[in-house]
Amino acid sequence: MTEPQKGQWDGGRFLKTLAYFKVIPFIGNINWIQNLLGGGAKKRQEKPNIILVVGATGGVGKRVVQRLQQQGIKVRCLVRDAKRGRTILGNSVELIEADLTLPETLTPAVFQDINGIICCSGTKVQPVEGDTPNREKYYQGIKFYMPEVVDVPELVEYKGIQNLINAVPRTLRNAGDKILFDFTQPAEDVKEIWGALDDIVMGGISESSLKLTPDGALFTGYVSTANSGGFVSVRTRNFEPPLNLYDYQGIELRVKGDGKRYKFIIRCNEGWDSVGYCYSFDTVYNIPITIRIPFDKLIPVFRAKTLNEGKPFNASQVFSLQLMLSKFEYDGALNPKFEPGLFQLEIESIKAYGGTVLPRFVQVSSAGVTRPGKPGLNLEEEPPAVRLNEQLGGILTWKLRGEEVIRSSGIPYTIIRPCALTEQPGGSALIVDKGDTIKGQVSREDIAELCIQALTQPKACNTTFEVKAELDSPASKNWDELFSQLKSD
Ligand SMILES: NC(=O)c1ccc[n+]([C@@H]2O[C@H](COP(=O)([O-])OP(=O)(O)OC[C@H]3O[C@@H](n4cnc5c(N)ncnc54)[C@H](OP(=O)(O)O)[C@@H]3O)[C@@H](O)[C@H]2O)c1
Repeated sequence: MTEPQKGQWDGGRFLKTLAYFKVIPFIGNINWIQNLLGGGAKKRQEKPNIILVVGATGGVGKRVVQRLQQQGIKVRCLVRDAKRGRTILGNSVELIEADLTLPETLTPAVFQDINGIICCSGTKVQPVEGDTPNREKYYQGIKFYMPEVVDVPELVEYKGIQNLINAVPRTLRNAGDKILFDFTQPAEDVKEIWGALDDIVMGGISESSLKLTPDGALFTGYVSTANSGGFVSVRTRNFEPPLNLYDYQGIELRVKGDGKRYKFIIRCNEGWDSVGYCYSFDTVYNIPITIRIPFDKLIPVFRAKTLNEGKPFNASQVFSLQLMLSKFEYDGALNPKFEPGLFQLEIESIKAYGGTVLPRFVQVSSAGVTRPGKPGLNLEEEPPAVRLNEQLGGILTWKLRGEEVIRSSGIPYTIIRPCALTEQPGGSALIVDKGDTIKGQVSREDIAELCIQALTQPKACNTTFEVKAELDSPASKNWDELFSQLKSD
C-alpha cells in the first residue's frame, strides 16, 4: 500500500465506504439520515447443524438415524457400503462411505458442518452356525447361540475409534466455544461481511483493508494523523439476524500483531454511528497470542468517548464487530503504543468463549468392559460377552481401550455402556450406574433415544455409565433427572 499524500482526502473512497455499509446518500432521498443511522444488514449464514451417526446400519445406529430424522435434525450416516446403507436407511438421508479401520477414508468431508457424533459401531458378531441375511439371530438376543467375531475387535473397537477421534475437527473439541469467524478456513462471503471503515468518514486520509491470506485475515494498511484523522478499522455489516451470545462469557481473538495497541468494538444495536462496547488490547510483535475479552470488561463508548450512563451490553443481540487502530484511547487520552504509518494485525479466529459445554461425542460401548480378568468375578453369573471375551478376540478388552482413547481426547463425550441389547419396543424406565457391576437388558430403541438426549445434556458431559431397563416400569422422560444421578469421570 502506498503512503497517501498529506491532506489528500479521497471523496470516491468516502462514498465507497458508505456504500459498503449501505449508508450512501442519494440526493433527494429523504431516508438518507435514517439510512445512515440504520446501517446496512448482511445475512450471516449460520452453518447447518448435522449429527454424524457412525455404525448407522447397525441395530442401534439405524434407530438413532430414524429418531433424529423424526425430530427434524439433519443426519449424516457413516456407512461401509452405501448400497447396503440405502436399503436399510432409505433415500431421505445423507450417506457417506468410510471405514473406521481405514483412516484415509475419514476425510474432512465426513465431518463438514458436524455438530455432534453418535458412534454405535461395533465388531460384527454372529452365531458360529451363521445368521440370516438380516441378522435375526444376533439381534433377538434372547436365545443363546455360540457367537464368533467376523471382524477383528482390536481394529474396530480400538484402532478404529482412535482413527475416528484423530479425524474429529477441532471445532468439536472446543465445545464451550462458538466460532464466529475462522479466517484460516474462511467462508466465501467473508469479503461481503467485513469492510474497511477508516477516518476518511471524518475527513482523514488513512486507509486499511482486510485481506485473506493462508494463515488468516490480515488487517493492514496505513494510518495517518493528517486532516485531524488517526484511525483505521474493519467492521462487519450488521448481522441479520443478530448473533445471540447470551450463553457465552466473552469474545476470544487469536491474533498476531506488530506490537501496537488495537481496539475491539462490539455493537448490540443496529445504528451505524452508535454506542459501541470497546476493549483495548496490546499485541506482541510477530507472536501469535490469544486475547480474551470478557463481556463485563467492555467499556461503553460513543466514538472514543466513554459513557457513564446508557444501556448495558446485551450479548443476546450482537449486530456487528469491529477492529480498530486509533491514535486515541478514551476521552481524549492518547494510545500510548500508537505510531502513524504502516501496521498489520493477522487474525486467525474470532470466537465466543465460555458457553455451556455439551457432549459432542456419544459412544455406545458395553456393560462388562472392565470385567474380564477382574479378580473374584464369578464367570458363571456373567453375560456371554464377558465369559467368552477371549474367544471373541478380546472384544470387551478392546472396547475398553477404545473408551480410553475417547476419555483422553479432550472432546466432550458421553460413554454409554448398555447391558444386553434387545429388539423390544422400548419406553421402559432406565437404571443408570457407574462401576460396571449391573446386569440386565435394555431395548435398542431406548439406547438410541438415550444417545440423542445425551447430546443436549450438560450433565452427561464427560461421564461413562452402564444402563439397563427397569422392565414393566414406564420411562420417566425426565432426562435431566436421569443424568443428574451421574458423576463425571
Ligand atoms: N448385542 C448386545 O447385546 C450388546 C450389548 C452391549 C453393547 N453392545 C454394543 O453396542 C453397539 C451397538 O450394537 P448393535 O447391536 O447396534 O451393533 P450392530 O448391529 O452389529 O452394528 C454395528 C455397526 O457398526 C458398523 N461397523 C462395523 N465395523 C465398522 C467399521 N470398520 N467401520 C465403520 N462401521 C463399522 C456396522 O456396519 P456394517 O453394517 O457395514 O457391518 C454396523 O453399522 C456395538 O458396539 C455392540 O458391540 C452390544
